[in-house]
Amino acid sequence: MARKVFNSPAYVKPCVVDVAHKLLGADNWVFLDGKAHVEFRKGLNGLFTRRALEIYLPGQEEVYNRYFKEFLEITKQAGGKPVPFMTHFREVITAVSCRTFVGHYISDDAVKKIADDYYLITAALELVNFPIIIPYTKTWYGKKAADMVLAEFARCAAKSKARMAAGGEPNCIMDAWILEMIKSKKWREAQEKGESVEGLEKPTHMLRDFTDYEISQTVFTFLFASQDATSSAATWLFQIMAQRPDVLDRVREENLKVRNGNINAPVDMDQLESMTYTRAVVRELLRYRPPVLMVPYVVKKPFPITEAYTAPKGSMVIPTTYMALRDPEVYENPDEFNPERYYTGDAEVKGAKNYLVFGTGPHYCLGQQYAQLNLVLMVGKASLLLNWKHHPTPKSEEIKVFATIFPMDDCPLTFEERKW
Ligand code: HEM
Repeated sequence: MARKVFNSPAYVKPCVVDVAHKLLGADNWVFLDGKAHVEFRKGLNGLFTRRALEIYLPGQEEVYNRYFKEFLEITKQAGGKPVPFMTHFREVITAVSCRTFVGHYISDDAVKKIADDYYLITAALELVNFPIIIPYTKTWYGKKAADMVLAEFARCAAKSKARMAAGGEPNCIMDAWILEMIKSKKWREAQEKGESVEGLEKPTHMLRDFTDYEISQTVFTFLFASQDATSSAATWLFQIMAQRPDVLDRVREENLKVRNGNINAPVDMDQLESMTYTRAVVRELLRYRPPVLMVPYVVKKPFPITEAYTAPKGSMVIPTTYMALRDPEVYENPDEFNPERYYTGDAEVKGAKNYLVFGTGPHYCLGQQYAQLNLVLMVGKASLLLNWKHHPTPKSEEIKVFATIFPMDDCPLTFEERKW
């Protein structure tokens, strides 16, 4: 039933809270529907290909190296006492996202400011909100934070345009997109003038020139879509790995092997993909604790969901990802965290239609490969550089919803350097 809703673009489109239009800009591509949406998305697909994802890896390694040192410092500052790490995971994920999306066009201070303020944006998106923005309310703070991010990203777009035009190497999503625009322009102009296109690199998708603001708006949607979900996954990943040393040991072993015993060696895409056990851990983590529990859709025309029931136009239909991911017919003991189902088991095949973690249909998650490989990189590196301990409380397994899901006690952890 959930799949049917996701896969019925003729009847439904994503339904966002009113304030989202105000935060992201009403003319943002994520609010497009039908053909216009498909067309715009095609132009973004090239930013998430395997080849593109490889370019972003060094920036991500750099951020993790820096933040893992900070994790050690946090425990030290607390005198070895447990500290709730949820907000720290949110911060490192913002920093990784910023480096991936806008490279070094943004200062460390600006990254820190975005990370600090981002929760205001999430808070502003609470489902129940006033339709107007009243000063000093959550939506007002959220709008201020969103405007700050948009202005920062627009400045990055201007810098990226200048560097790419001068023949610079792309190393972030913004560069990759702008490079495709430059290639498209050259190709178009050559064709218009009737000149030979020989020697020109054909763009994968013909793009028009986007303004700095449009680029900023689009890259902001990536931050918006990834921030809460990836932070949720990262928090649970560290909690569960600490609870399951047997699993963490195997992650460690695999990561050490791929790096030929050098714990500080960076990895490339082939190496990341070759880590089938660590990938199974991430896959199972996302099944066990799916960050996005449901995706609200709105009915565009009467929608016969079943033979007995037709949802009227204007109603909300909210497919949940959770039930399909806990289906006992597909996943034996569904309430158990067991990476083996994706390593030696048949969950991938048997549950191919159940895996709604990233949605399905025309709006399925654009960043799903990136999100999973990024989590593989994060936990793999952490396993080699850090030891960490979870300090359970009665609320550790209880779930709170802050856009996505988090442990109710915000995940109290202590970190120490791993000595080999
Ligand atoms: C674990 C992390 C993530 C999870 C669980 C997740 C999940 C989802 C889900 C459930 C949807 C709605 C799909 C639908 O309606 O069918 C979605 C949409 C989307 N996601 Fe993700 N996501 C994650 C990370 C990311 C990242 C890292 C990016 C970008 C870099 C991203 C970009 C997007 C975009 C742009 C959309 C909207 C696509 C559209 O409307 O065409 N997501 N995601």
